Amino acid sequence: MFEFDIQHQDGRARVASFTTPRGTVTTPMFMPVGTQGTVKGISPQELTEIGSQMILGNTYHLMLRPGEALVEAHGGLPGFTAYPGPFLTDSGGFQVMSLGHMRKITEEGVTFKSHLDGSLVNLTPERSVAVQEALGADVIMAFDECPPFPAERDYIERSLERTIRWLGRCLEVKSKDEQALFAIVQGGIHTDLRQKSLDLTLPFNTPGFAIGGLAVGESKEEMFPAVAFTTAGLPQTKPRYLMGVGHPEDLVAGIALGVDMFDCVYPTRTGRFGYALTDDGRLNMNSSRPRQQLEPLDAECDCYACRHYTRAYLAHLIRAEEMLGPRMLSLHNLRYLHRLVERAREAIQERRYADWAMTWAERYFKGTV
Ligand code: GUN
Ligand code: ZN
Repeated sequence: MFEFDIQHQDGRARVASFTTPRGTVTTPMFMPVGTQGTVKGISPQELTEIGSQMILGNTYHLMLRPGEALVEAHGGLPGFTAYPGPFLTDSGGFQVMSLGHMRKITEEGVTFKSHLDGSLVNLTPERSVAVQEALGADVIMAFDECPPFPAERDYIERSLERTIRWLGRCLEVKSKDEQALFAIVQGGIHTDLRQKSLDLTLPFNTPGFAIGGLAVGESKEEMFPAVAFTTAGLPQTKPRYLMGVGHPEDLVAGIALGVDMFDCVYPTRTGRFGYALTDDGRLNMNSSRPRQQLEPLDAECDCYACRHYTRAYLAHLIRAEEMLGPRMLSLHNLRYLHRLVERAREAIQERRYADWAMTWAERYFKGTV
């Protein structure tokens, strides 16, 4: 039911088609984040129109509200949200750490106080898989621990060993063939710990592997060597997912290192804050300059906002706090990242990825907007 078929390769970068029960997607791809069962402000129709392929959902948020049973009563996330394509859900391990209060981690799992009402909640590998089966995504994630940054080396090592035992428990209770469970490689920024996590994770032979524990506060000079080391140790023939990344430059660099899947709240969050992504850097729509500019956000973009509106109009919406403003910037930013990976795929296919990436980066970091 799941197939990963590599079509083109250029250095470590690759273009592949990933078949899931709800459709075949083309990688490298960027997955919009729909934490609460919605990509903030964007309709499923719009997601389809801008070329979104797979949407992310969150175990942590949806089990607390509205509860996974209600989502299941709608036939899972596709019925609940009316987005008909493939979904991926995160396991909750990461969100418990960033949002839960008074966390207690034991071998059994994590106990925490809900960020919504303070009630005591238990999340274990078994519960995470049960919730993710009810949510019904095509790809589900192993329940893991993502240690904070910085953390003691010793702690990261004990944590990654426990994450392996949790992976075993997840696979033990997983019951649906129409869902692929991806393991998550941890190990922080330490090469030897990444190797240890790889050595312990690979034997489970899951249909895909995620790289976790990054983009949590370390510098990019620390993150990318860890990504490069991990992708080099992963099997060629399976999808690699770099969790919680990222910014346009992270996608361009990650793809060069052999990453296939990305997700991040960045395009929608920065859009809500009034920023637009372009090939000339990030445009601040809260500043005075765009208020007089009669050109679109990005002349090469084909999103609804760029086809219909001037920068001046969008800047006016933002200033007047009209909700169409953040909505249009989110839509444009998502389309920007989808177009970025489309261009990356084309460059890989034509075996000019390094050239394309350098040219793109030079212009992006010159930042003339
Ligand atoms: N999202 C970003 N990083 C991580 C991680 O390490 N684990 C999980 N489960 N989700 C993430
Ligand atoms: Zn646009």
